[in-house]
Amino acid sequence: MKKKFIGANWKMNLLQPELEVLLQELSTNSINEDSIEFVIFPSQIYLADCINRSNLTFGAQDIHSENNGAFTGAVSAEQVKSTGARFVLVGHSERRSVFQENNTLIKNKVNAALNNSLGLVFCCGESLDKREKALEKEFVLSQLEEGVLHLSGQHVAKCIIAYEPIWAIGTGKVANNHQIEGMHNFIRETLINKYGYEIAHAVRIIYGGSCTTDNAKEIFALNNVDGGLIGGASLNFESMNTLLNSF
Ligand code: PGA
Repeated sequence: MKKKFIGANWKMNLLQPELEVLLQELSTNSINEDSIEFVIFPSQIYLADCINRSNLTFGAQDIHSENNGAFTGAVSAEQVKSTGARFVLVGHSERRSVFQENNTLIKNKVNAALNNSLGLVFCCGESLDKREKALEKEFVLSQLEEGVLHLSGQHVAKCIIAYEPIWAIGTGKVANNHQIEGMHNFIRETLINKYGYEIAHAVRIIYGGSCTTDNAKEIFALNNVDGGLIGGASLNFESMNTLLNSF
């Protein structure tokens, strides 16, 4: 059976001493590894240290599309891989909006991740404006088409697609169950049309955007929701622990 996926996206939070405490707490936590894959995405600067200190699984919050070169401040997929990290987030809405990443760059990062055998968590999701104009499916479809649907079935089957409506990220405004299930079903159908039933069902489609201990159980039980990408609520051991036990 396909494992559920929970990602803790720590974003640009936590100083070294705080991170050590949280890591220690999470490391002693018993996660049912047969049914849940739990991956932490710390700031890049802490990645190697986290991997050396803990038996948990880690990923990078971003990569550059090139493997090396004169790109001051950037970190490549090859470098991430060499730390022992296993996953990477690509196309997070904060990268798309704050750092002006477009679909072409994101596609290059997707390819860099896969060329370096990193597990890909591909993020997509619409703005409030698109949702209010009922253009959310069209918009997410274009993100998928321009970002991941060029991949072979063999590659796509291993990907995780995170649906994160921008208007629900860090705002406390969670999408309702109907909206979440509607988009997850749409993403699954898109994958079925392109790759067939078996490959489409191997892909894990997870939800992100103000997921908390109050709503996670309900969200994770929805059709075609295979887990979550957690931001704010992942910075606290008690809430993260509850979220990991919400299936
Ligand atoms: P949030 O962030 O849970 O704080 O809304 C989710 C994300 O950005 O991945």
